[in-house]
Formats: sequence, C-alpha cells, structure tokens
Amino acid sequence: MKRYTIIAANWKMHLRADEARQLADAIALCRPPEHTRIILAPPFVYLYEMVQRTASHPHIHISAQNCSQFSQGAYTGEVAAFMLQSIGCKYVIIGHSERRKYFGETDAIVYEKMLRAIENDLTPILCCGEPLDVRQQNQHREYVFHQLQNTLFHLDERQLTDIILAYEPIWAIGTGIAASTEQIQEMHHFIRQSIAEHYGSAIAQQCYILYGGSVKPQNATEILSLEDVDGALVGGASLQADSFCAIVRASAAHRKD
Ligand code: PGA
Repeated sequence: MKRYTIIAANWKMHLRADEARQLADAIALCRPPEHTRIILAPPFVYLYEMVQRTASHPHIHISAQNCSQFSQGAYTGEVAAFMLQSIGCKYVIIGHSERRKYFGETDAIVYEKMLRAIENDLTPILCCGEPLDVRQQNQHREYVFHQLQNTLFHLDERQLTDIILAYEPIWAIGTGIAASTEQIQEMHHFIRQSIAEHYGSAIAQQCYILYGGSVKPQNATEILSLEDVDGALVGGASLQADSFCAIVRASAAHRKD
C-alpha cells in the first residue's frame, strides 16, 4: 500500500501576524515531492487567515494545535472542535507533551479531545512519547503503550482509519538532539506492531506515524527514509521557510510503495 508523507509544522506560540503571513507564503512556494503533504499548525488567532491564504495550494492543509475537550458551552477562553471545522481547518494536534506538562492534560482529557475532533471531522494528530528518565530506565515502550492504551486503543476500527500519530520523545523536543535512527525506527515499529495486535496488520499499515523532536534539514533525510516513519512533526525548524522547505524536500527520501 502506498502511503504519502506528511511534513507538519508546529509553530507553537511563536510569530506575529505579519511574520506568520510571510512564513506561510514562503512555504507555499516550496515545491514538495509529489507524494508529500504539508500541514501548518499556527496559533488559533491565525487559523482562519491561514486557511484562506493557503486555499489555492492543495498540498497544504491547516491544523490547530489544540481544541477543547468539551463540545460547546460556557468554557471561557476555549476553542471547540466544531469551530475549527467550521473555518476549514482539517487537523488538530492533540496531547502534545507541552499541553500535558504545562496545562495538566491527562490521557483522559486527551482522549476526550480526540473524540471531539473525530466527531467534527477533524483528523487528530495524536502525540505520544516518553520523558528522559523513563527512557533511561528502558521503560519507554511500556510508557508509550500505556499512553496509547488510554487514548488510541479506545477507538473502534472505523475511527482509527483517520488518525495521525506522532511519536515525540520529550527529551528530543526543542533540545537540538533528535533520537537516533535506531531509537526512532524501534519505537515506530513497536507502535505499529501494537496497533496491529489491536486492529490487525492492514489497519496498522495504513496508520501514519510521524516522528517529532529536533527534526532539521541535517537529519531529515535519514529520519524520513526509515521504514516505519511516515513523516515529521517539526517545531523549531518550521519557523524559517528555508529550513522547513529543506525538510519538505528531504521527504523525497520517503517512498514506501
Ligand atoms: P522541535 O519540536 O522540532 O522544536 O523539537 C517538535 C514538536 O514539539 O512538535
């Protein structure tokens, strides 16, 4: 089965409006390999404009970085999944480690958010990944399995077909030190195997599993050519058009027909 490659930009809480516009316009000019899709995840306030601005570029899609776990109602300051859907947003990042760390998001909350996304025809980009001490104790497989058990594995087969997973070891995020290719392939394979055990290998083969954590032009080719890596979730290197476009071009290394 042919899987395309996803290169997603997580702009986090960076960029003024004019900077976001310039960056989106510059990224729109970079020519991705034919099998590559670009997803841009700007802050909420720029989402509507970014959807409009990139509408004529069919290979670029827009993602939110978060959504509320509630459907709608008196939740001051929150943004509901149906609102994202209503402005043409197609994806939403759920359960990023920064949300878990700074905003107290538990697996139970992450699961609710994932359901709100699915109910509103948004594709969740579900993040998982272990902290450094867990990796040092060689417990990373169990830790990530547990995260998936509390979130992903509650879904039925039909819901699972439109999910993107992102494996992001916390110790590699924003540190400049990506996981090694062996570590990445091992975990991606483990995650795919775990999905296969729950849902069968056909579904596991269709699942997108992105890697995130210090992806940059220098390591993108080797990471993207790994067997079980279907793309990248890029933070720091997505804030400059040059480095992000270099990663997009490196996705030519990813051909797994
Ligand atoms: P980074 O962030 O590329 O800056 O390590 C990745 C992420 O948090 O998604």
